[in-house]
Amino acid sequence: MSSPSVYIKTYGCQMNKLDSALVTSALRAAGFGLTDNAKEADVVLINTCSVRDHAEQRVLSHLGHLKHLKKTRPGLMVGVIGCMAQRLGEKLFQHEAVDLVCGPAQIPQISQLLADALHEKQKRLAITEKIRQKEPENQNLALEQFESAYGIEDRQLPGQAYVRVMHGCNRFCSYCVVPYVRGPEVCRPPAAIIEQIRKLADAGVKQVTLLGQTVNSYKYTAGEKTYCLADLLATASNIAGIEWLKFVTSYPAEEFLDEILQAMADSPKVCHYLHMPAQSGSDKILRAMSRHYTAAQYLELLDKARAIVPDIAVAGDFIVGFPGETEEDFQATIDLTRKAKYKNCFIFKYSPRPGTRADKKLQDNIPAEVKKRRNIELLAVQERISDELSRDFLGRQVKVLVEGLSKKAHLNLDQSSSERQLVGRTAEDWIVVFNGPISLAGQLAKVKITKTSPLTLFGQLC
Ligand code: 5AD
Ligand code: SF4
Repeated sequence: MSSPSVYIKTYGCQMNKLDSALVTSALRAAGFGLTDNAKEADVVLINTCSVRDHAEQRVLSHLGHLKHLKKTRPGLMVGVIGCMAQRLGEKLFQHEAVDLVCGPAQIPQISQLLADALHEKQKRLAITEKIRQKEPENQNLALEQFESAYGIEDRQLPGQAYVRVMHGCNRFCSYCVVPYVRGPEVCRPPAAIIEQIRKLADAGVKQVTLLGQTVNSYKYTAGEKTYCLADLLATASNIAGIEWLKFVTSYPAEEFLDEILQAMADSPKVCHYLHMPAQSGSDKILRAMSRHYTAAQYLELLDKARAIVPDIAVAGDFIVGFPGETEEDFQATIDLTRKAKYKNCFIFKYSPRPGTRADKKLQDNIPAEVKKRRNIELLAVQERISDELSRDFLGRQVKVLVEGLSKKAHLNLDQSSSERQLVGRTAEDWIVVFNGPISLAGQLAKVKITKTSPLTLFGQLC
């Protein structure tokens, strides 16, 4: 029999995209085939997200579809990995469509679990009973070995890669499920991170994005020295081949922020981009969210960032309709959004997550239609800000790292030309669409901006 082929579907954030890349490499190394075509796969692996109910519902409906498919293809194996696997463990295991459940901490075992399940035709469940307990050394070691061994070959975008600097989260914002599904914060050793970036550079990677739930609190003590994110950025800046370094997501706290902003100002390779969610502009709501800062303190951090790195582009996240959010609280969020002058914002409607403190203590008392209206209103406010900021680019030349073909058709193309519509991003994370040869994917290019819109810049190759 030829090696079984696996199709991986990824829901959720960059962490999940990185995990899927690692799993892809690991499975390939173990002799599995990987396919982009779900129809021809022997195994479907779904990498899941639990951050909002909507994300989980999408996975459950995908599983419903697979349950039907299995009636005509009884040999098809279905695995669920990632955050939902950890959160719903046994319940998912009982789902008719599911053969394998593997939590984020058990990912290093994925090839073995899959091989066992296929060989023995028996369901497999691998999750941690007590996710918040300090992980045993051997488990940390297994995660670290897995992390360093894989992910060099399999990347979603040419010329780019994600590198995790820390697992988990210790912040416990009252609405958030992450600390319960990804476990306690564990920072990776700097030597392992730098070695990985070096290997990626050797493989042609130009942009590395360092990932952590609160990436700016990265801290690792080895002997006498404590390393912070700024140290990683400075060391990685010296690696030949690496052109751009980004990092997400930052938590609005003083800790290490000065050093990180200084690294941004000092190294031409550290991109002038900061993703630092405020979540709300109301101090009352921020307190209920356990965010440990006020709106004024948040804005002070942004002032400081702009003083050290004047052209820094800032992105944010907001949750609207948090329990108890009045019109006045929402107005405070609009005010903060205006003052913060974000490049762009991700806006979410509050979704109660079982097990979190907000869910246990507070009633989800904002009606769905109010959440929806506030979401639309805040988006409109942000759109005007983004529109204004984007207009500044008209007539200017920008450097972009080309991602590949643009999915949406935006520009007129000469049908006879070999050029295609490409999309790339600037160091400040602006999306740029322009016509050019597909061979530019993974390369840096210069584009002159001829047209702007709130979220996308359009231009011509220089
Ligand atoms: N409901 C809505 N949005 C949430 N987020 C996290 N938890 C929830 C929740 N329960 C949002 C936050 C976070 C982003 C990744 O998802 O804004 O920054
Ligand atoms: Fe969730 Fe807060 Fe941790 Fe971010 S910092 S992952 S919102 S608990």
